[in-house]
Amino acid sequence: MCGIVGYNGSENAAEILLEGLAKLEYRGYDSAGLAVRNGTNDVEIVKAKGRLRVLAEKTNDGKALKGTLGIGHTRWATHGEPSENNAHPHISDDRNVVGVHNGIIENYQELKEKLLRHDYTFYSNTDTEIAIKLIDYYMKKYQEGPVDSIARAMMRIKGSYALAVMFKDYPEELYVARKDSPMVIGIAEGATFVASDVPAILKHTRTVYYIGNQQIAKIGKGTAEFYDIDREPIQLEAEEVTWDAEAAEKGGFEHFMIKEIHEQPKAVRDTISSFVKDGNIDLSEAGLSEADLAAVRSVIIVACGSAYHVGLAGQYVMEKMARIPVRVELASEFRYRDPILCADDLVIVISQSGETADSLAALRLAKEKGVPTLGIVNVVGSSIAREADRVFYTLAGPEIAVATTKAYSAQLAAVYALAIQLAAVRKQINEEEYHDLIAELQELPAKMDRVLEDKERIQWFAAKYSNAKDMFFIGRGIDYAISMEGSLKMKEISYVHSEAYAAGELKHGTISLVEEGTLVVGVCTQNGLFEKTRSNMAEVKTRGAYLMGLTSYGNYAIEDTADFTVYIPRTSEYFATSLAIIPLQLLGYYLSVARGLNVDKPRNLAKSVTVE
Ligand code: M6R
Repeated sequence: MCGIVGYNGSENAAEILLEGLAKLEYRGYDSAGLAVRNGTNDVEIVKAKGRLRVLAEKTNDGKALKGTLGIGHTRWATHGEPSENNAHPHISDDRNVVGVHNGIIENYQELKEKLLRHDYTFYSNTDTEIAIKLIDYYMKKYQEGPVDSIARAMMRIKGSYALAVMFKDYPEELYVARKDSPMVIGIAEGATFVASDVPAILKHTRTVYYIGNQQIAKIGKGTAEFYDIDREPIQLEAEEVTWDAEAAEKGGFEHFMIKEIHEQPKAVRDTISSFVKDGNIDLSEAGLSEADLAAVRSVIIVACGSAYHVGLAGQYVMEKMARIPVRVELASEFRYRDPILCADDLVIVISQSGETADSLAALRLAKEKGVPTLGIVNVVGSSIAREADRVFYTLAGPEIAVATTKAYSAQLAAVYALAIQLAAVRKQINEEEYHDLIAELQELPAKMDRVLEDKERIQWFAAKYSNAKDMFFIGRGIDYAISMEGSLKMKEISYVHSEAYAAGELKHGTISLVEEGTLVVGVCTQNGLFEKTRSNMAEVKTRGAYLMGLTSYGNYAIEDTADFTVYIPRTSEYFATSLAIIPLQLLGYYLSVARGLNVDKPRNLAKSVTVE
């Protein structure tokens, strides 16, 4: 997720663009850049690695760049590490076309090869540079102007994009286009504003156009003309924005956490698309060949917090599906206990930030011992991503809320991919099972959307029990791993004392804590364990617990035991975590809201724990 801005008017563009970018920094901020045109002069481009203020300092808050037409970008790396070279804007070889991009171009490799055949050269590792040069290629080949060349490029590009582009021979115009990435166009008297999100333009106007998928706009000074992908002019209706600026930054959601909960289907879809190619799992981008995986004798997953819980769910999936031994360790323990590791182990370090001190130390320890390492990381170019032998990037986009949701879900998708691929190379699943699992995986985002549709019931439940003091989450197998993450969400943001217990372990001590009204959540997604966990739920109920049941549609017998039930769509039992976690995230979130707490920034916690 990156942020785009554009301006065409009569004031100094760079200052306005920087102000707009500041409102989009929540979308990612590993580097930023500006391109400004001053009439027919050559375009001026300034880029900087790091936070936006580095770019602001470099350009004297934009005053050093002269021109009334321009584009800007704040980047969250997906292709190519964060660096000045990879920062946007990107420009064609002869400086004819310059542009910024948000999104992911899936067939960038194929497009790059095409352009190389036509003597284009490349200076960055970004898919954006390819998009800009493809537009330049069509501009020169057909000589039918900007709308035509953008449309032709759009027909070739697979993936998602929002593009803002300027052309040397059209010094008074800006062009934008989008598919599956957001873009809004704001119109004021004598000036037009472009942005990935409304907050960036609210200071200037509330009259906006939401450009549709596969549409193109030609932006003048206070004007916008629209075209479809066949270059036919189309009419769009202007709308008035009624949100206040703060609400707009969160896309209309009250908190970043709930926004990110809703972004999970996209995070999972994007991550899955990064490794499913032509119906098969291809981990070559993570540097993992089938031979590499076949050589692995056992897996050790090391992580902290929620990422550790991904490891726990992953352990059940990998061991059962691929019949490979898997150990899951807390990074803070692993690093100090002189772990036994072998050269044919694979150490997987899972981390959203890629900067967690204990996880990084664990990674270094594994490397010192000569064991191959793989990072499953969300932040491109982070320390773990740089130091691991191989990196599997999750595509969750920047996560702002301290409590992780979408990064956790994207990490799960990555772990499923490894499990399926390990199972295939170890011949634990046949061809048909392999493709069935991939198909099931691809259906997860739509099923996650369905779980989100049921959020009002959980909101109601959370409001009713907002005074809860103690809470228990119980389950067996994968359901125990789900319980651990549900319980962490609860204590982290709602400050309710909560514990996750392996359901069969309750009788060995914990059940003595259950009294009249204690809230217990029973997680039952695994058919073979359903009756076992249900009988543990019955045990706590007879001791006065109020019971919430969480299971798949069809398991209606749970209503004989639970006082309140939440159902999730049926999926492969291997992937149940991805659906069952959503109601538990929502429960933690709504309880925190009902208690009037600071949901996005809970007390005593930091998003990235860079000290041990
Ligand atoms: O950035 P990381 O994934 O390495 O962070 C690990 C934990 O600090 C993190 O998952 C933490 O537990 C979350 N705040 C939980 O919501």
